[in-house]
Amino acid sequence: MSDMKTIGVLTSGGDCAGLNAVIRAVTYRAIRGYGWKVLGILDGTAGLLDSPPRHRELRIDTFDASLLRESGTFLGTTSKGNPLHYQMPDGSFRDLSPEFARGVGALGLDALIVVGGDGSMRIVSQLCERAGVGMVGVPKTIDNDVYCTEYSVGFATAINVVTEALDRLQPTAASHHRVMILEVMGRDTGHIALNGGIAGGADIILVPELPYTVAGVARRINQLLAEGRTHALVVVAEGVKTEAGEAASVKDAQGRPRYGGMGHYLAEKLATHTPAEIRVTILGHLQRGGSPSPRDRLLASAFGVHAVDIAAQRRFSRMVAWRDRGVVDVPLSEVTIGARTLDPNDALIHTARGLGIHLGEQRARKRE
Ligand code: F6P
Repeated sequence: MSDMKTIGVLTSGGDCAGLNAVIRAVTYRAIRGYGWKVLGILDGTAGLLDSPPRHRELRIDTFDASLLRESGTFLGTTSKGNPLHYQMPDGSFRDLSPEFARGVGALGLDALIVVGGDGSMRIVSQLCERAGVGMVGVPKTIDNDVYCTEYSVGFATAINVVTEALDRLQPTAASHHRVMILEVMGRDTGHIALNGGIAGGADIILVPELPYTVAGVARRINQLLAEGRTHALVVVAEGVKTEAGEAASVKDAQGRPRYGGMGHYLAEKLATHTPAEIRVTILGHLQRGGSPSPRDRLLASAFGVHAVDIAAQRRFSRMVAWRDRGVVDVPLSEVTIGARTLDPNDALIHTARGLGIHLGEQRARKRE
């Protein structure tokens, strides 16, 4: 039996749909299953770094209203700054591990449940280790690029958004005889593009993991037109590089480079290769919002309950994961090694090719 009394839960990194459902599941299981006190840390690790630490106690009735149905995170999150190497206002860098440990101590946390992507988990696991508090990770990200889990919270809802976007773009494409390019998120991975593109009936899907040429894309479009199709749907992941291998990044308001720009790059390049009229849609942060899909709510619920259960067993430094239709847990060390890219042998790549979707050129075999 566990001697724990108080646990903390925080969300870290970019938001997505289903985070509130995870926090709810953690709270329900911790209170109903173990009688623990649950503290929600505000704004990710930032809440623990402040003195006094910013938090709110979570109770069963915290979730009486519509939180299960809402995207975002009602606790707030942060995706800026690394507390292990934090840039201070004067430009110097500091390790804020002592502040983190002080926050954990002030709240009397016996364990911390961290809902985050691989980057957040890498950072927070080190902070927890130094603070001497056990951590359990819950994977979330629309990019679905966390290792060791088939699905992360937020991905399923993002795929619904991409699919719906293509459902909306197709009639316009058909009516105006256009090529519609849809740029989707995913950082350096193509999970969103591949899954959403297949589900939404795309003709061409470009992902960072597979090589392509503009001429090849144009050839496929012209071939479709020659076969009598009046339009085409193209999905391009934001992490796809230009033909020269450069990132087509855009700048944010502060002048810092961001992912994005591939949709317009492709449209501009294609214009000289095809007579088709081309339009570009950037789906952007719409992919992170909307009511979480039933699949994400199920995943969030299973993850939250299991995270508390393994914390109760003091099996720390682990992440809950989804494998073979069930929830399991894996060592954090196997997860925090970076982003899981698309495996070129992924079954869905085979599916896409089987459907005749153009995924770029398969690498030419080296001549002997
Ligand atoms: O990692 C999730 C994600 O939505 C990526 O797909 C995207 O590139 C990035 O976050 C956007 O980050 P921000 O919200 O900081 O613009």
